[in-house]
Amino acid sequence: MNIEIKEVDVAVVLSIRQEVLRNGKPIRMCKMQGDELPSSIHLGLFYENKLAGITSLMVEAHPEFPDLSQLRLRGMAVLPEFQKKKLGKLLMEEAISVSQKKHADILWFNAREAAVGFYEKFGFSVRGNLFNIKDVGDHFLMYKEL
Ligand SMILES: CC(C)(COP(=O)(O)OP(=O)(O)OC[C@H]1O[C@@H](n2cnc3c(N)ncnc32)[C@H](O)[C@@H]1OP(=O)(O)O)[C@@H](O)C(=O)NCCC(=O)NCCS
Repeated sequence: MNIEIKEVDVAVVLSIRQEVLRNGKPIRMCKMQGDELPSSIHLGLFYENKLAGITSLMVEAHPEFPDLSQLRLRGMAVLPEFQKKKLGKLLMEEAISVSQKKHADILWFNAREAAVGFYEKFGFSVRGNLFNIKDVGDHFLMYKEL
């Protein structure tokens, strides 16, 4: 079994964002603010050389965490046929490791309600109340001190 996680161009992550996170909506709706910034990092997990999972890390501060060096995790997704095989776990561990190497104090993101239990396994905590993101659904702010 050959699994590789590597940095990829933003164009590579769009297809899985579209399928898993945006219900097949047009590619323009799969782009995220900050995607193209040189400081943004896009990770692809390849299973037997096929792209199976993605996530992105962006330099973005959340007002809940003033005075801390922060990274935001975005667009975490594993293709349905590859889910529940611990690939999301490998991707998350790599995202945490990359964030630590970048000397971030905090890694934060808006987690879909259904994925909160997944993130809790890596030591992330919920901050505040459930809120809705239009066209995407209900989310919690989650964070972890690195
Ligand atoms: C959430 C997601 C990334 C998890 O990836 P995955 O490869 O299926 O997860 P893994 O197989 O690595 O699971 C690791 C652990 O988390 C658990 N887990 C996985 N998804 C979970 C969920 N939604 N809720 C609670 N626990 C979950 C697994 O049971 C496993 O637990 P264990 O180590 O105790 O056995 C994937 O299911 C996905 O892409 N979902 C749809 C998109 C999405 O919701 N993305 C998150 C946006 S915020």
